[in-house]
Amino acid sequence: MSGKEKKAPLLEVRNLHTSFKTDKGEVRAVNGVSFVLEEGKTLGIVGESGSGKSVTAYSIMQILEQNGRIVDGEILFQGEDITHYSAKQMNVFRGQKCAMIFQDPMTSLNPVYTVGNQIVEAIRIHSDKSAAEANEAAIEMLKLVGINDAERRIKQYPHELSGGMRQRVMIAMALASEPWILIADEPTTALDVTIQAQILELMQDLQKKLNMAIIIVTHDLGVIAQMADEIVVMYGGRICERGTADDIFYRPCHEYTKGLLRSIPRADNMKEKLVPIGGNPINLLNLPHGCAFCSRCDEAMKICLEEVPEELRISDTHLASCWMNVKNGTYTEVPGDE
Ligand SMILES: Nc1ncnc2c1ncn2[C@@H]1O[C@H](COP(=O)(O)OP(=O)(O)OP(=O)(O)O)[C@@H](O)[C@H]1O
Ligand SMILES: [Mg+2]
Repeated sequence: MSGKEKKAPLLEVRNLHTSFKTDKGEVRAVNGVSFVLEEGKTLGIVGESGSGKSVTAYSIMQILEQNGRIVDGEILFQGEDITHYSAKQMNVFRGQKCAMIFQDPMTSLNPVYTVGNQIVEAIRIHSDKSAAEANEAAIEMLKLVGINDAERRIKQYPHELSGGMRQRVMIAMALASEPWILIADEPTTALDVTIQAQILELMQDLQKKLNMAIIIVTHDLGVIAQMADEIVVMYGGRICERGTADDIFYRPCHEYTKGLLRSIPRADNMKEKLVPIGGNPINLLNLPHGCAFCSRCDEAMKICLEEVPEELRISDTHLASCWMNVKNGTYTEVPGDE
C-alpha cells in the first residue's frame, strides 16, 4: 500500500443482499445495503419492524437462520471480505473482532451455567489465561458493567438476576473479548427507562475505553440521537436516508423518514400529535419496481412507481434516496459521479 492510499475502514458493508428461502418463495429481507463503520464510531440503524435491521446485523455476524443466505455483496473487515471466511475464521471473527448483544439476554445466556462460567469461557476462548486468571478477569468485567457484589453474582444462574442485571451480564460477555465492533440489536428495549439510560451510558464509557465501534439497532429515536455519529434509516431492506442526527431529525429528506419522525414521540415535540404512517409494509416476496415506500407515500409521483431512486447527496454528511429531492432540486450530486 502506498503512503497516500487511505487505510481501509474498520467495517464496510457493500451492496449487501440477504434472502430467505420459504414455502412461499424468496423473502428478500436486505436489498443492497451499504455503509461504512470507522474505528471508535457509532452507527445507528433505525426503521420500523421488518425493515431488515436485524437481518443486516445477523449477516455481518453470519448467524442467519438455516434458510437465510447472503446472496450478493461484500462485508469488508479492515478491507478483507469476510463473506468468504470459513466457519473457523468466522468463529475467530465473532470471538475476537465483533460481538453482539441481543434484545433478549436469554438468547445469549445459557440458563444451565452460572454467569461466571459463561464469562470465563468467553474470556478463555480468545486468551491464554488460566482458569483462575479468567475468573479474576470475569469479576473485573462484571464490576466494569456496574454489577455490585460481583464475587457473589458470578456464582449465580441467569434466572437469579433481574432483567437489567442480565443485560449487563450479556454486555460483559460480549465485551470480555474486547471486540473491535459491538453490534447491539435493541439492547435496551426490554428495560425500564432508568436502567436503559445506565446501560447506554455504560456502552459509551466502554466504547471510549476500548476505542470500540458500535452498531446500534433500535426503534427508539431518542436512543439513536444520543448515541450515533451517523444514522441510517432502513425501509424494505434498503437504506433510504443517512446522515448525522441533526440531518435526520431537523432536515429529513426522505418521505419515509419524515413519516417516522411524525409517528414516534420525541422529547423536542411532546405537544405534537403523533401520526402513524398509513398503509402496510411492503411484501418482501414481491418487491416493487420503484421506491419501496411508494405505496404509502403521500407525495408519490409516476417515477416513484417505476424506478428505484438513486442515492443523492444532500450535503457532505447527508444522503437520501427519494425522487422528491430531484423534483425540488434539493440535492447537490449523485454519489459516485464525483
Ligand atoms: N428465517 C426467516 N425466514 C423468512 N423470513 C425471515 C426470516 N428471518 C427474517 N425474515 C424476514 O426478514 C424481514 C426483515 O426482518 P428483520 O428481523 O431484519 O426486521 P427488523 O428490521 O429487525 O424488525 P424488528 O424491528 O421487528 O426487529 C422480515 O420481513 C422478516 O419476516
Ligand atoms: Mg430486529
